[in-house]
Amino acid sequence: MIDFNDSAFIDDPYPALKKLREVGAPFWHEETSMFLAAGFKDASAVLRNRTLGRIFDPKTPESKWESFNWLHSDSILDSEPPKHTRLRSLVMKAFNPKKIEGLRPEIERITASLLDEAAKKHEAQGHFDLIADFAEPLPVKVIAHLLGFPEKDEHLLRPWSQAIVKMYEVSPSIADQEAAQLASDDFAAYVHELMLQRQTNPGTDLVSELAAVREEGEKLNTHELIATCVLLLNAGHEASVNGFGNGMVAALENKTQMAKLNADPDGLALTAVDEFLRFDAPLHLFERTATEDTVIGGVTIKKGQKIASLLGSANRDSAMFENPDELDLSRHPNPHIGFGAGIHFCIGAPLARVEMSVSLPALIKRFGNLELAEKPLRRQSFVLRGYDKVLVRNS
Ligand code: HEM
Repeated sequence: MIDFNDSAFIDDPYPALKKLREVGAPFWHEETSMFLAAGFKDASAVLRNRTLGRIFDPKTPESKWESFNWLHSDSILDSEPPKHTRLRSLVMKAFNPKKIEGLRPEIERITASLLDEAAKKHEAQGHFDLIADFAEPLPVKVIAHLLGFPEKDEHLLRPWSQAIVKMYEVSPSIADQEAAQLASDDFAAYVHELMLQRQTNPGTDLVSELAAVREEGEKLNTHELIATCVLLLNAGHEASVNGFGNGMVAALENKTQMAKLNADPDGLALTAVDEFLRFDAPLHLFERTATEDTVIGGVTIKKGQKIASLLGSANRDSAMFENPDELDLSRHPNPHIGFGAGIHFCIGAPLARVEMSVSLPALIKRFGNLELAEKPLRRQSFVLRGYDKVLVRNS
């Protein structure tokens, strides 16, 4: 009925997702052996329902998946209360609104320096890559700064993260599986070493803070600390890169909206960011497992069965949004579930919003009238939806 790996579907999944919503209730998807919840009400209920848990399924054979399983079995994202509550409350201290606001000057500084480099490239070659030159390095640098990940090693983050997150796709290839395991080995070893350094020689960064918590009250063991730092480093940039790229391409393909943005980049920044995430979500699917028989949209999910919340589909539901297939950068209110819902709601949402609402107007003001220099290159993945390359130029 729906093939998540089909390139035509990946290029534009929205017509097929609309048909799924028309089914009207969660339904069984044989190929992935799980229910799919495509409408806003059901997709949102899946994320909020407490008898549907984020239960990590260790990959088998476990001997082959040692590091990957190790990193995931103790992370915030893949745990449930009471462990989830404890881990999340420790990390939330670092993500409180005051601390995030405090990062604004650093985000502005990084943005300005990336734009300087992009402008040089534009001058030399007549275009620059919105992804590689701007959308990607910005959140990587910010999360690296926050965690105290050394600048000289920042280039390691994105390849490790990309290799690991390919495992979140519906059916990753054997080569992708091997790359994910290798990246997990290297990433875990690196963060372990960093943590040991910070324990003897603490700084003001988040790794030092979390390492200190562990020493004081034994609240965070070594395994949890490493898994949490790796999760933050990955989650802290992956969706932000794609959310910005997807949104900018949608805007650049829409003359009216782009004109609005060019005319008032500061005034539109906040609503535009949320509309970017609603219109072409960077994260499309999250799974839950029923810990007891659970009814969603009139359908019983039996204990042990899985159900996926289709976020990007939910955000295009006409029952929730007026003209859902239209990009409207001033849309307000915009109750999308691009950052999830319920107890796993994105910890980094305030940080992502500050990053994007600083970088978007700065980009627009620096380049005036941006346009696509060639057809953007879509990455062939559905769950983490994004572009590999988006060449742009000043028109
Ligand atoms: C545009 C950017 C982002 C989007 C769209 C996004 C989206 C999401 C979503 C949908 C979830 C929930 C997953 C689920 O329910 O299973 C989530 C969780 C999470 N996100 Fe984000 N995220 C973004 C940026 C960030 C950033 C910058 C960080 C920074 C550290 C971050 C850290 C996390 C963490 C730690 C969780 C797990 C929370 C938990 O399980 O309690 N995210 N994110």
